[in-house]
Amino acid sequence: MGKRITDSVTWVGKVDWELKEFHGHEYSVRRGTSYNSYLVKDEKVALIDTVWAPFAKEFVRSLSNEIELKNIDYVIAQHGEIDHSGALSELMRQIPDKPVYCTQNAIRSLKGQFHCDWNFVPVKTGDVLELGAKKLIFVEAPMLHWPDSMFTYLTGENILFPNDAFGQHYATELLYNDLVDENELYTEAIKYYANILTPFSPLVTKKINEVLGFSLPVDLICPSHGVIWRDDPTQIVKKYLEWASQYKENRILIVYDSMWNGTRLMAESIAKGIVEQDKSVTVKLMNAAIEDKNDIMTDVFRAKLVLLGSPTVNNGYLHSIGGLLEMMKGLKFKAKKAAAFGSYGWSGEAVAQLSNGLKGAGFEVLNDGLRLTWMPDSDGIAKCMEFGRAIAEQTADDLKI
Ligand code: FEO
Repeated sequence: MGKRITDSVTWVGKVDWELKEFHGHEYSVRRGTSYNSYLVKDEKVALIDTVWAPFAKEFVRSLSNEIELKNIDYVIAQHGEIDHSGALSELMRQIPDKPVYCTQNAIRSLKGQFHCDWNFVPVKTGDVLELGAKKLIFVEAPMLHWPDSMFTYLTGENILFPNDAFGQHYATELLYNDLVDENELYTEAIKYYANILTPFSPLVTKKINEVLGFSLPVDLICPSHGVIWRDDPTQIVKKYLEWASQYKENRILIVYDSMWNGTRLMAESIAKGIVEQDKSVTVKLMNAAIEDKNDIMTDVFRAKLVLLGSPTVNNGYLHSIGGLLEMMKGLKFKAKKAAAFGSYGWSGEAVAQLSNGLKGAGFEVLNDGLRLTWMPDSDGIAKCMEFGRAIAEQTADDLKI
């Protein structure tokens, strides 16, 4: 059953409580998600987005309980990724002649994925679709987060449908931001931003300022995942502006992997040195091999300084650290400092390689790193603590709270 949002808008999406991984195995999901689809009824009827492919039949069946499918006049496909377009094939089989409004890039992505020849109507920023008393205004949002993405604004009820932007992987039957646990909501919202939107931060700032420049009133923000922002809806817009501006907190993250605990002991000793030097900073240790990669990326996003540690094995570093380095490079974190450390037995290449990898990922690397042989003894532990103290001192003024 659909859920009434306003006189003209009904939520007709799918809450997916079971989802554990998204984007294949790339994004861990802790609290489920939703694929939000919205039916807008005026003299004309528009459907904004659909749901993920496995729920296509269920979606179309439930939609047909809400409205006779032939009475849908316009299908709006804001984004071609299959968590929103996955039910289009099932739907378009039943209403093959109805126009599909989307960006020119979405025509390419939809055709590329579904090999379809639907009645596409390409739209650009500022194009208007009259529904009767109300109208839909389209805003292209390329690379937020695909080239085909767009936002849609409903006049009269002042609703922004920003597709993936401002979303969260968060399942709830309660629908609105003011009805759910705020900590859970923001935990998921920042994880979503850190792991999906960080590389596009300059475009986030630009697009938000462009939309703010239209001076349109916004009473509701209805993203394609998670809750609808109803209470102080622009709070998430302000948060995005903050997150998009080289975001960091007064936190130091130590990410390491270890084979026989030498590098773990180094990590813990470095942490002690940091805290000894600066009691205001939050230090967090995460073992790359056992912690979730997306949680680690969220903590990288929040940190001002990231210390990366690995023992040397086979003349290199451990694969868990290599995977994270690749993710950090792709996410293009800005204005973050870093350093490397690790224990070794004979060749000891890992630390220099990690330092180079961090530089390549855009981090400001503070020193040549700290290498110790075998298991740190009391001298080694003292060196780690000194390394921690020095690094805390070097970053003490970066950001104090
Ligand atoms: Fe980019 Fe929710 O899909």
